Amino acid sequence: MAEERQTKKEDELFLSLPRERGFASSDLYLFQEFWCSSTFIKEINIFQKQFQAKDNDIIVASFPKSGTTWLKAIAFAIVNRQCFSSIHNHPLLTSNPHQLVPYIGFMSPANSHFPTTEPRLFGTHIPFPSLSKSIIDSNCKIIYICRNPFDTFISAWHFFNKIRQYCSSSALTIEEAFEMYCNGIIEFGPWWSHMLGYWEESIVRPNKILILKYEDIKENVNLYVKRVADFLDFPFTQEEESNGVIESIIRLCSFEKMKDLEVNKSGIIYEALENKHYFRKAEIGGWKHSKSIVRREIRAFELFHLFKGCILEL
Ligand code: A3P
Repeated sequence: MAEERQTKKEDELFLSLPRERGFASSDLYLFQEFWCSSTFIKEINIFQKQFQAKDNDIIVASFPKSGTTWLKAIAFAIVNRQCFSSIHNHPLLTSNPHQLVPYIGFMSPANSHFPTTEPRLFGTHIPFPSLSKSIIDSNCKIIYICRNPFDTFISAWHFFNKIRQYCSSSALTIEEAFEMYCNGIIEFGPWWSHMLGYWEESIVRPNKILILKYEDIKENVNLYVKRVADFLDFPFTQEEESNGVIESIIRLCSFEKMKDLEVNKSGIIYEALENKHYFRKAEIGGWKHSKSIVRREIRAFELFHLFKGCILEL
């Protein structure tokens, strides 16, 4: 009876929300000002009510396809470096980072991947205002990775079309997807409010949220691995620095190394997707090779913002 009442309540909620076609195969609803599938809305409702953050929890937050897998690997390797000092038996060699750092909203403590050791590491794509109150109010730390939105778009288009293929749905053309993306309609979108939500909070609480850019990390990974370690209160000692611990973490988490591991070539964690799809090209500016019509629109979009920026500066 209670279950029926709950289902009826959920059906009423979905009927009341704006609905659009998503990048993956399911429809998206505009829920708490972001676009999300019905399955995730149910999970997020439970998460918001039940998740109890601990002060030493670490959350890797991102908009999908911004470099989450990489940052999860880096954070896991930094925090657990004392337990796995020998690089040869490191869990990242046999597990995908999404197994070691599970997504928070989609996981109950009963799930076998729920972390049992502290500090607990979680990932999330949930926008900042919709995180559970205990995450917002506690002292747990959030590291947020963002990426050039055009590279993020191309990455998302490839990735979600793989999910569509698995669900036997027809692929989205790049033009359709780009139109949706520009209107903010994508899982956890709009991307601009996602980034702004975390960025604004990082200004108010710089000790709580560290904002990182995918491109910056690629350019100087050593600097950012150290910065993440300092921010998480796991700084490298002088001895570790001289012993090459930072370099070994960088090598272990590098795209080339991870892409080539058996677990990431043939493993599966989520039903609709093989792990290999988390590792595509990892390029900066790869969108420039996309189809000409989208390339032209992106260029126009960039110029418009550049122009707007100049006017604002005058
Ligand atoms: P591309 O699709 O442009 O290649 P996410 O992890 O948020 O799903 O983002 C996926 C993007 O990060 C993909 O970009 C993927 O190739 C890239 N990526 C995955 N692992 C990486 C790593 N270890 N280093 C750098 N980039 C990585």
